[in-house]
Amino acid sequence: MLYFFATLGTLFVILFLLLLFTWRNGISPMPTSHRVRRALLENLPELEKGTVIELGSGWGNLLFPLSKKYAQCSVIGYENSPIPYFFSSVLNHAKNTKILRHDFFEKSLREANLIVCYLFPAGMERLKEKFERELRPGTKVVSHTHGVPGWEPLETIEVDATPIYIYEVT
Ligand SMILES: C[S@@+](CC[C@H](N)C(=O)[O-])C[C@H]1O[C@@H](n2cnc3c(N)ncnc32)[C@H](O)[C@@H]1O
Repeated sequence: MLYFFATLGTLFVILFLLLLFTWRNGISPMPTSHRVRRALLENLPELEKGTVIELGSGWGNLLFPLSKKYAQCSVIGYENSPIPYFFSSVLNHAKNTKILRHDFFEKSLREANLIVCYLFPAGMERLKEKFERELRPGTKVVSHTHGVPGWEPLETIEVDATPIYIYEVT
């Protein structure tokens, strides 16, 4: 009986935290679909060295393949929702990858050579200003589903009606 209530209580806390952070962030930790992820990974820019940042790394669905693709780079995933953060941190064994439990709006993106994200329209609007303040010329930004408002992509790839936007900061 005790075991039953402990399990029920744990599930309730997990669900509560997921809903709370979905409400606070304006987006759930919904992972990128398999097909979009594959197309995105195939079209990412080559990078010899530097820093790759994923904004809202969720369960690690995109972050872990990024760690492999950019094995010679430092890869950072920002995720502030505690359950996906915990889950992905436990699974992260890549030496080049850090998952940080922070609100990415409060962190500097100046060191980034590549930004990857799957967010929502209001978040992209807010990020646009941050990108324009902080990103250095030559930095690439790859975002799927929602683009950076007003920015002209270098390339747009469409997979299952989902656009993947590739930008370069000038
Ligand atoms: C749609 S999910 C994408 C997850 C993952 N990037 C993927 O593509 O599979 C967006 C993630 O961004 C996180 N997020 C949203 N706003 C955030 C913020 N300000 N700081 C940190 N993480 C945030 C959410 O918690 C969620 O996990």
